[in-house]
Order: sequence, then C-alpha cells, then structure tokens
Amino acid sequence: MLIIDGKKVSLDLKNELKASVESCQAATGRVPGLTVIIVGHDPASQVYVRNKAKTCKEIGMISSVIEMAADTTEKHLIDTIHKLNNDPAVHGILVQQPLPKLIDEFAVTLAIDPSKDVDGFHPENLGRLVMGHLDKCFVSCTPYGILELLSRYNIETRGKHCVVVGRSNIVGKPMANLMLQKLDATNCTVTICHSATKNIPFYTQQADILIAAIGKAGFITADMVKPGAVVIDVGINRIEDAATKSGYRLVGDVDYEGVSAVASAMTPVPGGVGPMTIAMLLKNTLQSFQRINGL
Ligand SMILES: NC(=O)c1ccc[n+]([C@@H]2O[C@H](COP(=O)([O-])OP(=O)(O)OC[C@H]3O[C@@H](n4cnc5c(N)ncnc54)[C@H](OP(=O)(O)O)[C@@H]3O)[C@@H](O)[C@H]2O)c1
Repeated sequence: MLIIDGKKVSLDLKNELKASVESCQAATGRVPGLTVIIVGHDPASQVYVRNKAKTCKEIGMISSVIEMAADTTEKHLIDTIHKLNNDPAVHGILVQQPLPKLIDEFAVTLAIDPSKDVDGFHPENLGRLVMGHLDKCFVSCTPYGILELLSRYNIETRGKHCVVVGRSNIVGKPMANLMLQKLDATNCTVTICHSATKNIPFYTQQADILIAAIGKAGFITADMVKPGAVVIDVGINRIEDAATKSGYRLVGDVDYEGVSAVASAMTPVPGGVGPMTIAMLLKNTLQSFQRINGL
C-alpha cells in the first residue's frame, strides 16, 4: 500500500513557496503578509496559531498575530477586520475558529474582504469554487491540500466515484464540490454522506476515492472500504494513551491498521492531510499577494 506522505509534500511545497516569496520580494521590494486574529485562550487554537506564524516566518512571509480577550465584542472584532481589509501590507486575514459563543462566526466571515480571505470561508469564495472559477477564488485550505496530494501522487480521479463522509462548511462541502469540478485532478462522480445517511457502508464500499472528515476516531473500518480504494483521512482525534508522555495520541477517522490492508493508497494521521493545511494557507496568501500586485 502506498502511504500518501503529507509531511514530505508539505515540505516540498514550503520550499517552493519560499522561492516564490523571494521572487516576489525581488520584483516588488515587498513580501506577503498574513494576519491571524485569535479571540480567547483556547489551548488548541493557540497551538494552531503559533504553528501558522512559525511556518510563515520559515518561508519569508510577514506574520502577525492579533490576540483579543475572550470577552471581545463582535463589533470590535469586525472593526479590526475592516482595518486589516484596508491595510496594504496585509494580504491574508484569518480569524481562528472556534470563536466565543456570543460572536456570530458567519458575520465575522462576511466582514473579511473576499480578496484577503485566505481561509476560503467567505461565501463569495465558496460560490466561485462551486461555479468552477478556481482561478479567481481561494479554496479552503484542507480540501485544497487534499487536491494537491492527489495531484502530486498522480492519483487518477477522472470518472472515479469519490465518497466524502462529512458535510461541514470548511471540509466536507468544499471538498465534495472540488472533486465535482471538471479539472485534471478532480472530475469525479461524487456522493456525500453525513449523520442522517442511512447505511453509510453501502456508499463507502463503492468509493474509488474515500475522504473521511467526520471527527470520530476509527469510524471507517476495513469492511467499509472497496479493495484498492484511495483513502484520505482528514480526522484529527485525541485518544487516551497511557504509553505516551502526554497521556494521549492523535488518530484519524479511519482505522489505519485495518484499512491499510485493503486500500491501495492512504494518508496517515498524523503526517497526512494535517501538514498540508498550513502549507495551502501560505500558498493562498502568496496568491493573494500576487493578485494584488498584478504578478
Ligand atoms: N487535517 C486537518 O487539517 C483538518 C482540518 C479541519 C478539520 N480536521 C478534522 O476533520 C474532522 C472533521 O472536521 P469538521 O470541521 O469537518 O467537523 P464537523 O464540523 O464536526 O463536521 C463533521 C461532519 O461529520 C458528520 N458526522 C458526524 N458523525 C457522523 C456519523 N456518525 N455518521 C456520518 N457522518 C457523521 C457530520 O454530519 P452532520 O452534518 O449531519 O452533523 C458533519 O457533517 C475533525 O476530526 C477535525 O479535527 C482536520
């Protein structure tokens, strides 16, 4: 079975992005800038934000983090976003989710200028993706990273049956819509499953490409997978493990051991889709810089 190595591909991609950032600097005297806003003190979000900032610096981009208190008002957050929309040194704006309950996440997404929405969550970007205008939008980073993996591993997709389990706005829905597009690395027949789907194995067993974005450890078992399928595991789940120093370990939505005996190719967790998500965020930020500067 082929292991689709997201860690390696993301390193290759970061090296390519670093070279592109250097070219941008040579051409314009400026470099792309990403601003991340974090509201509150969620420990997992703080780790994600730190990683994003660190990776930005590694490839030569400017990264800034705006930290806001947990009791920040929606108005203050949206006013800050409007200032960033008008700041020419900022090419990408990302508001780390989840936000405190009193803040309307959709209102915050709408406040971000679509041309700086490097997360690809704004309805204008999602709408363009659905309509197939990928050259003029930002594709949300996790589905975009999966597309990059399929493409770099030359996985044949045209006419294949792709089954996506999960329909969130940030993974499942954009992923399914992407696989439906008439592009070289997509062009699939697509089925979407969710929590109200009856008999999920009936659908997953037909998948040539199975993408699991559920958030339930080991949900996809070997008996649910067609022999020879390509299996992409988006899930990141913490499970207790007394043998580790932290007392837990990360696993995906796919039972890796069982499914690897049936699948032809598969992403591991960790080291599969996860590292690609940050790399694609930086790719989107570079793309924003290039569009704004007419490069
Ligand atoms: N690797 C990465 O970079 C990355 C990025 C984002 C997310 N993730 C991980 O990917 C997983 C999914 O994330 P998400 O943001 O999409 O999660 P989410 O918003 O919670 O969505 C989960 C989806 O799974 C469906 N689902 C839940 N239980 C199900 C069941 N028993 N049978 C069938 N479908 C079921 C839900 O259906 P309903 O819509 O019917 O509720 C929903 O559509 C999580 O583990 C998350 O940590 C990883």
